[in-house]
Amino acid sequence: MRLFLDTANIDEIREINRWGVLSGVTTNPTLVAREGQDPDEVWKVILEEVGGDVSLEVTASEADEMYAQGKELAKKAANAVVKLPMTPDGLSAGKRLVSDGIKINVTLCFSPAQAILAAEIGAYIMSPFLGRLDDAAADGMHVLKEICDIYAVQGYETQVLAASLRHPMHVVQAAQLGADIATMPYDVFAKLVKHPLTDRGLEQFNADWQGLQQHLKEGS
Ligand code: G3P
Repeated sequence: MRLFLDTANIDEIREINRWGVLSGVTTNPTLVAREGQDPDEVWKVILEEVGGDVSLEVTASEADEMYAQGKELAKKAANAVVKLPMTPDGLSAGKRLVSDGIKINVTLCFSPAQAILAAEIGAYIMSPFLGRLDDAAADGMHVLKEICDIYAVQGYETQVLAASLRHPMHVVQAAQLGADIATMPYDVFAKLVKHPLTDRGLEQFNADWQGLQQHLKEGS
């Protein structure tokens, strides 16, 4: 399962990229707006920093305008993936972009039925929002399982990107269910690496090593 950061903040991206585990980035209008800068500049820096897929979302709501925006976004870099919402217009524009050879990510997906539609237009990625399903008193992981099962049975090549992940166990469960990609905010990424026993073990190793150095110094 590939790990993506769900952010438009370049400092967060650089930090996780440094770990060697970052395969891509997802952005959306809210995340870009949070940076308070020219979106083109924000996307440019991210596209240069990240080797893998970077999702850039259209903001138009009508199919022709979405298509035109998508064409422009795709021109920004070879690793740009055009993100479109799961609406009739999003599907229509997405299908045209796919026909032009452009990679698309269909976002704001909340059901297996929507996942089938995304696969049928040949989307490169479709993004079910698991945390937001949980927020609505539904079972996000169950929906993810249904989508992964359907894609396996049907042999769909569209990649399932588990989005709106809120904690490390969301990431673990998404991997167990067979998601192709998990995207998460920086704080969830940071929690993946932490374990109290790692910290305690390292402290002990360092203390014992220092003890040996001291012992050798005193003996020489
Ligand atoms: O990638 C989708 C993500 O941005 C949604 O996450 O936490 O706003 O539900 P959240």
